[in-house]
Amino acid sequence: MQTTATRVAAVPVTLRGVDRVFGSGDAAHVVLSGVDLDVPAGEVVALLGASGCGKSTLLRLVAGLDRPSAGEVNIDGARVDGIEPRAAVVFQEPRLLPWRTLAENVAFGLPSGGSRETRRAHVAHALDTVGLAPFAGYRPRAVSGGMAQRTALARALVRRPGVLLLDEPFAALDALTRLRMQDLVDDLQRTSGATVLLVTHDVDEALQLADRVVVLAPHPDRAAGAGIAHMLDVPGARPRDRADPVLAALRVELLDRLGVPRHRPHPA
Ligand SMILES: Nc1ncnc2c1ncn2[C@@H]1O[C@H](COP(=O)(O)OP(=O)(O)O)[C@@H](O)[C@H]1O
Ligand SMILES: [Mg+2]
Repeated sequence: MQTTATRVAAVPVTLRGVDRVFGSGDAAHVVLSGVDLDVPAGEVVALLGASGCGKSTLLRLVAGLDRPSAGEVNIDGARVDGIEPRAAVVFQEPRLLPWRTLAENVAFGLPSGGSRETRRAHVAHALDTVGLAPFAGYRPRAVSGGMAQRTALARALVRRPGVLLLDEPFAALDALTRLRMQDLVDDLQRTSGATVLLVTHDVDEALQLADRVVVLAPHPDRAAGAGIAHMLDVPGARPRDRADPVLAALRVELLDRLGVPRHRPHPA
């Protein structure tokens, strides 16, 4: 598999005083409150947090798929206002069109314009970087879940985004496929240099792939809403050794931050 992605112009992402409230009045549901985050160009940040704490909401704000109720999101110093062309998103499900081939699905990631030959070359390269060149003419139902998700990754990469937004992209895959996909994303990020926000609820995945782990949790001192409860720089260069004892120690610390005790008490 050729996992050399084209180098991209990585860009920084900043969130300033970001709130997101759904509904209003008595029905108001404060999901995010006072989120400040600086992600320098080319950094990989994992957003970790319990289910329902607002991780996807935060990612959607960066992608421009949603707008903050207060505060602002900037990419490379310019405010995100509508669907963001500098960012690409990969979701938990591949979201492919079943009647289109893998290559045609990847082509949907390209902005309009450019010659047919150039577009075709970009699609072929993107499929090649995720190891799917021989399957370009297959339809989604003819390939495995892991291959479908690699197609979704190629569709995101084909436009060479400065910011890659990954929302639990491996969560629906079996354990071994998940590990291979983690390695693939790690390789692709290191060769492309893109800024990455990776949403996950998997502590090991966060420690394996991220330069920094950000824990999102409800504010203890506010009535409602989640914010950044903890940040941790992950030591050591990537690709990382999954058996590194330093990571094992950080794993315990992060699980503790997420409220998971190290040893379960025995039932009485
Ligand atoms: N469009 C929406 N309208 C109303 N509530 C929403 C909307 N999107 C998300 N929420 C609520 O925001 C909270 C956080 O959701 P989400 O960001 O998906 O969490 P996570 O990704 O961390 O599991 C949930 O309670 C969810 O119901
Ligand atoms: Mg989510």
